[in-house]
Amino acid sequence: VSTARRDTGRVVLEGLHALKHALRFGAAVDGAWTPDRARLLALVDELAPDLAPRVADLVHEVDAATWAALAPHGLPSPCLAVAPRPATTPDEVLAGAGPRPVVLLEEPRHLGNLGAVVRVAAAADAGGVLTTGPSDPWAPGAVRGAAGLQFAVPTARASALPESDRPLVAIDPEGEPLDAAALPSGAVLAFGTERHGLSPALLERADLRVRIPMRAGISSLNLATAVAVVLYTTEPAGASQ
Ligand SMILES: C[S@@+](CC[C@H](N)C(=O)[O-])C[C@H]1O[C@@H](n2cnc3c(N)ncnc32)[C@H](O)[C@@H]1O
Repeated sequence: VSTARRDTGRVVLEGLHALKHALRFGAAVDGAWTPDRARLLALVDELAPDLAPRVADLVHEVDAATWAALAPHGLPSPCLAVAPRPATTPDEVLAGAGPRPVVLLEEPRHLGNLGAVVRVAAAADAGGVLTTGPSDPWAPGAVRGAAGLQFAVPTARASALPESDRPLVAIDPEGEPLDAAALPSGAVLAFGTERHGLSPALLERADLRVRIPMRAGISSLNLATAVAVVLYTTEPAGASQ
């Protein structure tokens, strides 16, 4: 686990929810560790009985001192796991999404927010999530915020948004009111950084600028909330099934 935290080819899954979704969406989990095997397996029976045999095979019990070193900040449930990180590139995310929208986060700062975006993108069956900037969408904090759903929606970090044929829609409090019918199919939906919003360069490049109407006096929605509103306007969950 300690080595995997420094390895960009690996993902550290903190807590049972992250492990559960990773397994359900195809992760080839290397192993899982817990300080209390009986308690973890009881939780699995309760929350994810479909995975009980697989978790029982994967999990190793460690002593309290080892656990404290592996999870010094505590975890929501007594489980840590490691899996290989899918090697999806930004170009592959854009090429593979078909008519489904791709979410672009420009320089998100807060890993919990980033994870919440991945979680709603997976739930709404978006085509992918791209990020720019220093925050790693596969960092343990982002994976925890997403409950491991990076494995359910192609997720990659880019140095900048690659060129593509997809329409670029800037989601920005200064845009035109959101109108589902006016949003192009297969768009890249771009959301700005928590503090400063979208960059002038991205706003300049966008084909369309759209706002989510808000009551007077309110400056903006939380980033992940804004993504949820727009995705569920454009892409009802399960629409592609
Ligand atoms: C917390 S907001 C950034 C606030 C920033 N001060 C601004 O004015 O853009 C983060 C991102 O969420 C999206 N967002 C939040 N509220 C929005 C709204 N009412 N309409 C459109 N986008 C919104 C935008 O993409 C924004 O860049």
